[in-house]
Amino acid sequence: MKSIKKVCCIGAGYVGGPTMIVIAAKCPQLDINVVDINEERIAAWNNSDLDKLPIYEPGLKEVLKKCRNRNLFFSNRVKENISSADMIFISVNTPTKTKGIGAGQASDLKWIEASAREIGKYGKGETIVVEKSTLPVKTAETIKSILLSFTKPKELKNGDDKSFYVLSNPEFLAEGSAIDDLENPDRVLIGGDNKGAISALKEIYLNWVSEDKIITTDLWSSELSKLIANAFLAQRVSSINSISALCESTNANINEVSRAIGMDTRIGKEFLKAGPGFGGSCFKKDILNLIYICNHYGINEVASYWEKVIEINNWQQKRITKIILEKLYGTVSGKKITIFGFSFKANTNDTRESPAIKICKDLLEEGSFLSIFDPKVNPSQIAIDLGIQQINEKNFKNNESGWSFSESLEDSVNNSDAIVILSDWDEFCDINYDNLINKMRKPSWIFDTRNIVNKNDANKSGFNIWSLGNGSLI
Ligand code: NAD
Ligand code: UGA
Repeated sequence: MKSIKKVCCIGAGYVGGPTMIVIAAKCPQLDINVVDINEERIAAWNNSDLDKLPIYEPGLKEVLKKCRNRNLFFSNRVKENISSADMIFISVNTPTKTKGIGAGQASDLKWIEASAREIGKYGKGETIVVEKSTLPVKTAETIKSILLSFTKPKELKNGDDKSFYVLSNPEFLAEGSAIDDLENPDRVLIGGDNKGAISALKEIYLNWVSEDKIITTDLWSSELSKLIANAFLAQRVSSINSISALCESTNANINEVSRAIGMDTRIGKEFLKAGPGFGGSCFKKDILNLIYICNHYGINEVASYWEKVIEINNWQQKRITKIILEKLYGTVSGKKITIFGFSFKANTNDTRESPAIKICKDLLEEGSFLSIFDPKVNPSQIAIDLGIQQINEKNFKNNESGWSFSESLEDSVNNSDAIVILSDWDEFCDINYDNLINKMRKPSWIFDTRNIVNKNDANKSGFNIWSLGNGSLI
């Protein structure tokens, strides 16, 4: 296998962008081209104003600065960069299918197929194709079969032949900590059936990851492990969220329960924070895909087991709106409610599957006016997610839907009846409660779905507090 000099990544999204930025920074000897069909996204990656990059991740712009236009390039030149690459990462989106067979569960692989066809058509010489996207187990077979259709039979091969090796190298980064996750991964997983191709990819990671953290395995175990890692993580969140409701009914405290069970090393303390339900582009999509695969193989009991993880997640989101209604005398119609945090978690501008979307839609449906504050989410994205444009508060009429975006946390609460904390940004942990309550209507409520409010301080200022999974406050 020839040594890798030129790398191409198809897909400049939340995975392709940060992953290639870190590889470029760690491997100055490689020439890396990230390509995308989305011109706006590429232009944003090339923006000289580093606060206008398409995604927000702590530490991202600092690393990008080191390597952009040195050995890392963003462009729409898909064909040329495929042709010149020794190794191609596929990092395109794989959302849940919305129509046809498997709609609502199976992953839509049309972007993967399109990428494989482009690689088949324009790839030259020996090319290693790396699945970075999260894919249903056995997708490598599809990619291989597409690529094979572009190669010549052995007996007809001559100097300008092409050949492809397919590897699975799923990405485990979490948004909000992507750069740190990429620089210090718990493990790197490489699945494949060609030793030379596996070691070529391993060589790249060895530039900064120690060998004992690089696991090599077969293609199918690698593809499946990625789905299962996400399923297990989501399952923990649903498990702790289900217990948060029980804590509320029994005067127990979910933080205390998390602490007590997490100190058992067999359970572990990570991923035990109760919240408004998991969001993000992958947990729901990947579990739905797992359910689809299980049903496909006739393992229906296993499918039903994983379905519950999603059911609890939906229920958790729904029950938060119900509680807000109950506490605000059964109605929020004509009331103003302030939302702190619209992203699906702190430190990202991503709103995909954010619990805030469902909860805000439910509150709008009940006739409230929402004042939304988020440190990084763009109001135009909120308008897309909620399906309505923001309006000036003055034009809000009772029983209609209305929301507006607030540029400052302090201004967002003017004349509000309640603050609902939905994402766990640091800004919301250290609040001057006296300042806020003076601007609000009385009684003033805080609904803390992330357990980050300083209850003593907030109480002293006169707030009524509902805190998720905190029985003694209810
Ligand atoms: P994304 O939607 O942010 O980015 C995907 C990009 O691929 C888009 O910009 C799109 O325009 C581009 N694209 C699609 N088809 C293309 C084509 N034929 N040629 C060129 N560009 C094309 O998605 P993402 O969040 O980066 O996720 C990508 C994959 O990685 C998914 O399979 C996801 O499940 C997986 N993943 C995501 C995360 C995460 O935190 N977001 C983490 C691990 C794995
Ligand atoms: C998740 C996984 O953590 C990554 O390993 C994986 O690569 C990625 O999915 C993916 O495949 O896309 P991500 O969705 O970015 O990463 O973020 P997480 O930190 O996992 O959080 C997911 C959701 O669970 C968030 O809404 C978060 O608030 C919630 N969560 C997480 C909790 O409610 N409690 C917790 O203890 C942890």
